[in-house]
Amino acid sequence: MSEALIQHFSTKLLAWHGKDGRQGLPWQSIRDPYAVWVSEIMLQQTQVATVLERYPRFMKRFPNVKGLAAAPVDDVLAEWAGLGYYTRARNLHACAKQVMVEFGGTFPEDPALLEQLKGIGRSTAGAIASFAFHERAPILDANVKRILARLFGIDGAIQEKAVNEELWLLAKTLLPKKSSDMPVYTQALMDFGATWCTSRRPVCLSGERKCPFEKECQANLSDQVLQLPRKVIKAKSPEFNCDMLLLRHGDSVLLQRRPDKAIWGGLWSLPESAWRAKEKSTKPSVSNSAAFTVKELFQLVLPDEKTTTALKNCQSIEQGVEIKHIFTHRRLWMQIWHVTSRDAVKFSSDDLKWVPLRQLGKYGLPQPIKLLLQGLSLAHGDDLRN
Ligand code: ADE
Repeated sequence: MSEALIQHFSTKLLAWHGKDGRQGLPWQSIRDPYAVWVSEIMLQQTQVATVLERYPRFMKRFPNVKGLAAAPVDDVLAEWAGLGYYTRARNLHACAKQVMVEFGGTFPEDPALLEQLKGIGRSTAGAIASFAFHERAPILDANVKRILARLFGIDGAIQEKAVNEELWLLAKTLLPKKSSDMPVYTQALMDFGATWCTSRRPVCLSGERKCPFEKECQANLSDQVLQLPRKVIKAKSPEFNCDMLLLRHGDSVLLQRRPDKAIWGGLWSLPESAWRAKEKSTKPSVSNSAAFTVKELFQLVLPDEKTTTALKNCQSIEQGVEIKHIFTHRRLWMQIWHVTSRDAVKFSSDDLKWVPLRQLGKYGLPQPIKLLLQGLSLAHGDDLRN
């Protein structure tokens, strides 16, 4: 391993950031750990451009940890709507409560303690400690793994535990000596990975710019830039079908709160059948009649003895669009069934609610369902954008 590169890596990276890093982002140069934490969680799986729009809005709605902890989780989910990966929003809320109860409302400075909080992993703990408290704590997100694997020619699959530990050790060794350099250094690592040492079009190959590490980078020297870091090849994500009940009465629609642990956990969605593995064959599958499918959907939300009456009270049943949604590890085709009921059927569960279309903006809805209902809402003359 190159000792010289280890010695001067942080100095070179800091110099690079001064010239070519991203400057002036609203979450940079803040030291309030709450504000840093919110920005880091939001930036985890969301594009910077989206965060630029949504971060100030979130901070205005929940300016401090006390307010966030005291808010109903539904309000947090509603504010998070459209950002995806809703576990982040539920964890944000749970973590705020934890900070209030376990740390008296003050975020701990020690990355090892930060890491014990809900939704904060080892790398995010390092980022928060570095940005807010100038701690000499390493980060190791996917971008940093890529940079280090290339620079130091680390050839093992990065998902492997031993390789991961080697990368953490390296990340720690490379930290700048001065803790006051930590915020810029950490931001520089993130920026260098996101904009220069990118996965598919790194600057050393595109020839657009001269990488400050080109003479030392093991991957560059051995023509292995696109081959590193090595990944274990993932199987194609499996595909599923399900039916969804879009039950309407007057200007209201029936929403069901999803279980916390499920996909879209805690969000309000349409009642949904069990998922079926999508058949590989191109032949159309034998489908049940509309009434049969709708009866099965009613059985999900009503006791058996009430489904026949509910079905009799249907004014219309129509097969609607099929919506495709791609999750991280699976793909889902949702068949929408539009049903209009003469009665506002009564439900005994708090997780089922008739919601007027004009009030949909108050609920945290999965993005594809939000778009679907937005269409209905606009046709109805309401606008549910908040
Ligand atoms: N991703 C995670 N944290 C980030 C940050 N502070 N800046 C840019 N992208 C990030």
